[in-house]
Parts: sequence; structure tokens; C-alpha cells
Amino acid sequence: MKYPLSEKYATPELMAKIMGPNPLKLEEELLQDNNIPAGAVVCDLGSGQGLTSVFLAKEYGFRVYAADLWSDPDENRKFFDEMGLSERQIVPVKADAADLPFEKEFFDAVVCVDSYNYFGRDADYLDMKLLPFVKQGGYIYISVPGMKKDLHNALPPELLLSWTPEQLDYIHDAAYWERIVKQCVGAEIVDLSEMESNEEVWADWLKQENEYARGDRKTMEAGGGKYLNFIKIVLKKM
Ligand SMILES: C[S@@+](CC[C@H](N)C(=O)[O-])C[C@H]1O[C@@H](n2cnc3c(N)ncnc32)[C@H](O)[C@@H]1O
Repeated sequence: MKYPLSEKYATPELMAKIMGPNPLKLEEELLQDNNIPAGAVVCDLGSGQGLTSVFLAKEYGFRVYAADLWSDPDENRKFFDEMGLSERQIVPVKADAADLPFEKEFFDAVVCVDSYNYFGRDADYLDMKLLPFVKQGGYIYISVPGMKKDLHNALPPELLLSWTPEQLDYIHDAAYWERIVKQCVGAEIVDLSEMESNEEVWADWLKQENEYARGDRKTMEAGGGKYLNFIKIVLKKM
């Protein structure tokens, strides 16, 4: 597919901030035909160093809360200032997705790229920890790294070149995610499908010179990419 919005961010400085397969391209595909109006209050959940949050604020006009556990909100604030975004447009927040520090029904929508697999694998998570913060009728857009078919009973050796079985336990197929989110009573599934973006988002990541990208190259150079995909999950709070 074409990525007219993400391509504007393809500078070495901005690409140095990605933490995995190009999250902007994933976000662009995820939000194609999205139902979130400009001006909506949106949580970028697991926002990392804030590149996806900048994208949401600049390209879609959302008022963004960049909520993340591992990154430093002061560093993210500096980055948002450098990108010309004010406190009204984007707010960095140190937050655990399992214990969000917001008022109930605060968000019109939640967008979550390459992080839901860390905290959303418990079937109770949506009803207990996330949906209370979303307004009725609000949307949750999720893109998770996945497997085309769950292979946890016989992990291919290519995948074990970069990751341990414990790390791979965060990665599952669409049927797994469907089983998890179907148990949620407070939201309906609008879409749950394999994404188109895979090769191009991996290619952008593998070009980066950091220890994680270098580690991931071992699997991808051995052809392990054929087992992997990204999965899109769109939910609407009832
Ligand atoms: C691979 S990074 C992706 C960051 C960003 N979404 C992107 O695509 O560039 C995964 C992020 O998930 C966040 N994360 C993991 N567990 C979390 C939790 N319990 N609550 C909030 N964020 C969490 C980490 O802080 C990390 O920044």
C-alpha cells in the first residue's frame, strides 16, 4: 500500500525514534477509514518515545495523551516541543496501562500500536482496565505484532535466532486475539484482521542501527518473516 502521511516522517532523525517495525505506517493503515473526528481526545496507549503521538496530533488533528510506562515523559515533552506541538495538542503521561491515571470516560478513542501485546493478553483487561476510560460509542484501534498461525508447540528455529520462547509468547495469531477480545462484554468487534503492512514496516526497522534492530535481523535474514504479520483489532464501546 502507499503511505502518503508516514512518508513525510522518513528522516533519519525521526526514524531513529522507532522502537520496532515502522509504527507510523502501521498507524496509517490502522486508521484508514477511521471513525474518530478531528479534535477528539485520544490516548496513544504505549506511545513509546512519542512518534506515533506526534503523528496522531499532526496528521489527524486529535488532542493526544501519550501514555507510556518505560519512556521518560520529560524527554517526550521536549520532543513534542521540537515538533511544534503545544500542551493543548499533546500531553506526555507516565502510565501503566493496567492502572490508568485518567478520569472515567475521558477518551473519545484509544490507539495502540505495537504495545497491546504486552498488557492486553488477559481476557479481563478490556472490561476491567481500559473500557472504563473510553466514552460510550468510542473506538479502540489496536495493531499488534502477530504470527500468521500460532506455532508455540513447535517454534521454527528461524524465530529462535532472535527471540526466546518467553519473548515469542507475546506474539499470537488472529484466532488467539479473537478468542481474547470476544470475551469482552463492554465492546463489540468492528474489525479483526491481518494487516497488509508487513514487509515494508520490517524493512524500515531493520535498517536502523541499534542493538534491538540488529538482534531482529538474525531471524529476518534467515527467512523468519514468513511466519509473522501484524493484526488489526478495532472495537467500539457499547
Ligand atoms: C515496542 S514499544 C512501541 C512504542 C510505540 N507504540 C511505537 O510503536 O513506536 C512498546 C511500548 O509498550 C509500552 N508498554 C509496555 N507495557 C506497558 C504498560 N503496562 N503500560 C503502558 N505502556 C506499556 C512500553 O513502555 C513501550 O514504549
